[in-house]
Amino acid sequence: MIVDEREHGQILESIHLPTLLASSDVDTETSLRWWHKAVLYEVFLRSFADANDDGEGDIAGLVSRLPYIKDLGVDAVWISPWYVSPMRDGGYDVKNFLDVDPLFGTLEDVQNLIDASHELGLRVVLDLVSNHCSSQHPWFQSALASPEGSKEREWFYFKDGRGEGGNEPPNDWKSIFGGPAWTRTQNPDGTPGQWYFNLFDSSQPDLNWKNEEVLKHFDEILRFWFDRGVDGFRLDAVSAIGKDDDYRDMGFAPDDLYRPDIWGPVPFFDADGVHDVLRRWRRVAREYPTEKFLVGEVVVRDVDRLARYLRRDELQSTLSFDLCKIVWDANAFRQMINTLQSACFERRSWMTWTLSSHDEKRTVSRYSQDGPAEGVLADVTQTGRERARSGYLLALTLPGSACIFQGEELGLWEVTDIPEDKLQDPIYFRTGKQELGRDGCRVPLPWEKEGTSLGFSSSHEAWLPQPRGWADVSVATQLDDTSSTLRFFRSVLALRSTIFNDDEWAFTWDPSPTGVLVLRRGPDFRCVVNFSGEPFQIGPDEEALVSSSPLTHELVIDVNNAAWLRARRSATN
Ligand code: NOJ
Repeated sequence: MIVDEREHGQILESIHLPTLLASSDVDTETSLRWWHKAVLYEVFLRSFADANDDGEGDIAGLVSRLPYIKDLGVDAVWISPWYVSPMRDGGYDVKNFLDVDPLFGTLEDVQNLIDASHELGLRVVLDLVSNHCSSQHPWFQSALASPEGSKEREWFYFKDGRGEGGNEPPNDWKSIFGGPAWTRTQNPDGTPGQWYFNLFDSSQPDLNWKNEEVLKHFDEILRFWFDRGVDGFRLDAVSAIGKDDDYRDMGFAPDDLYRPDIWGPVPFFDADGVHDVLRRWRRVAREYPTEKFLVGEVVVRDVDRLARYLRRDELQSTLSFDLCKIVWDANAFRQMINTLQSACFERRSWMTWTLSSHDEKRTVSRYSQDGPAEGVLADVTQTGRERARSGYLLALTLPGSACIFQGEELGLWEVTDIPEDKLQDPIYFRTGKQELGRDGCRVPLPWEKEGTSLGFSSSHEAWLPQPRGWADVSVATQLDDTSSTLRFFRSVLALRSTIFNDDEWAFTWDPSPTGVLVLRRGPDFRCVVNFSGEPFQIGPDEEALVSSSPLTHELVIDVNNAAWLRARRSATN
């Protein structure tokens, strides 16, 4: 979990744009960019909509549902990887970066999607996987077939093992997904060979980002998709590409998972070389006449490290995944928001606020728990539903961009009873089935009130089974209900696009009772979130623009609820 060591755990009461900013690292361009307060909608392609009725989502399915996304009121779609992939890690194991997996469609479908999105005024942000490729990528296959020390092996991290016959891994490093971060190879003659480094699954060998051919290939990949009209990239696990040539043991215990947000400095994560690569990509992005957006999945151990990624010539924004990890608690939220925002202010940059993703447990399920959302989650409660809506009101108030993972706008919950033979996430298998993994948030969307897969496919079963109760939260059901979560999101997003100034950076925490957060933006607007155990009384000089649940009394925000308030205008105004 990211911490602001400079604050020594104290809570900043307000955040203001510092008057003096470090000169050369700061973005001084004043023109507004399309992404400044944009809301992104994350599409996990395999689970969004299936046009060819094979039980798997595809690009044509997404095209058919673009009007739904537009009507939601977002500005852009971030789409999970569509590259050719054996799907060992949901498409984050790429066999060919310059084509589309037949599961999802063709390059023609991609063009169709980009054109149709642009016609509707939606931007398209693609996911760029760069830390690793698939073990089936031709580069890795030719590295395996090439001798030790060959130029092909230099594209990856191959090392000799330790101990007798090299039978022990080169060091004690751990994978983020569980187990050792080294996998042994077999020589073409069948004898055991060198080991290769895989920070994630063994089917995802890490690429060597000091190798010029790797760098050049990714320049080509960026241009390939930018040329087709892609408006930006979400950079997958990007802090992982920074690695030093230092292979000492880190003192990991055999059962440790590597956690980049809590472990101290390690040579294989967030080493300074990552910034040269980001500068190079930003230069490529700047070759284009319209602004291309680079938003990073940056997981680092402290706010100073985070701020480095937001320098003027690197990323425009990072996703606030740390906000997805915290429990429902006023101080935890306030502190995390202040910490993340301070990283942005140092660079005059913008956070992309999010509470969810295809890697996180669903918000309503997380907030239905009393403590941290670990293990198999208990059932969803009304409290969890209210808190999730309230959390989104807060996240959507913050200056910067925001991102909503598909299905959050329906209040979908984490599915915890997927039959074992359907589970796919490598985390489940690599942790010896100790961690259920991420399949539970990736269950295909329910579009209709009935049908084999509730309108996800036309007649096929969905690749992950949907729970029975999802007919009641389907898109069709919620469109018919003015108090539904979907209608709530639509109203909030419509309001958001009109009430905040595009270039406004500062916000303040107004004084408030313990457990209540009151975030002010400008003289007339406040977002109140009630984390406390008591109802919160609104003053008579304010009115609610929108609230997480209907206010039981016009001037009271109930426990677990939130509202956007505006100063009442006097009759003479
Ligand atoms: C982060 C992605 O969001 C996740 O789904 C994936 O498994 C890892 N990176 C590895 O690419």
